[in-house]
Amino acid sequence: MKNRFAKSRVIGSVAIAVVTAATSILFQSCEQHTITYPEAGYESFSTSVQPIFTKDCAGCHGGSLAPNLSEGSAYISLTTNDYINTDDPEASLLYTKLQGSHSSYTSSGNKEMILEWIKAGAPND
Ligand code: HEC
Repeated sequence: MKNRFAKSRVIGSVAIAVVTAATSILFQSCEQHTITYPEAGYESFSTSVQPIFTKDCAGCHGGSLAPNLSEGSAYISLTTNDYINTDDPEASLLYTKLQGSHSSYTSSGNKEMILEWIKAGAPND
């Protein structure tokens, strides 16, 4: 009787360990693939702007449709093709597009974030 009880406790512990390991693996893989919007307040292109492009734009602008807004390509694509006007940030095609036909593709907070980046001189940081 005592022995049977001990055996089921061991099985129980192993089951808990397996479930715990599986859950943490699941959470880790979620963290790696979940793209979240940046916090309010412009910090840098890579932390404030690229996550918006990755989440809201790269589904269409992932390579074959200009500008290429996928990670690693967006900065070059935007700055070598006249999408950004640092002398008159509001007149940048990237920004006017988001005010016009693309206005539903991202939030107004994200549009402001993109404008802040252009106003900061569109650095590659
Ligand atoms: C559902 C697909 C789709 C999504 C999502 C999308 N776009 Fe577009 N975008 C297009 C298409 C199609 C065009 C070309 C036709 C046009 O100019 O509207 C375009 C054009 C553009 C242009 C002008 C390109 C040029 O050379 O004239 C810019 C800039 C742009 N998109 C930026 C963005 C940004 C930034 C986002 C994310 C907030 C975004 N797009 C999300 C489909 C999309």
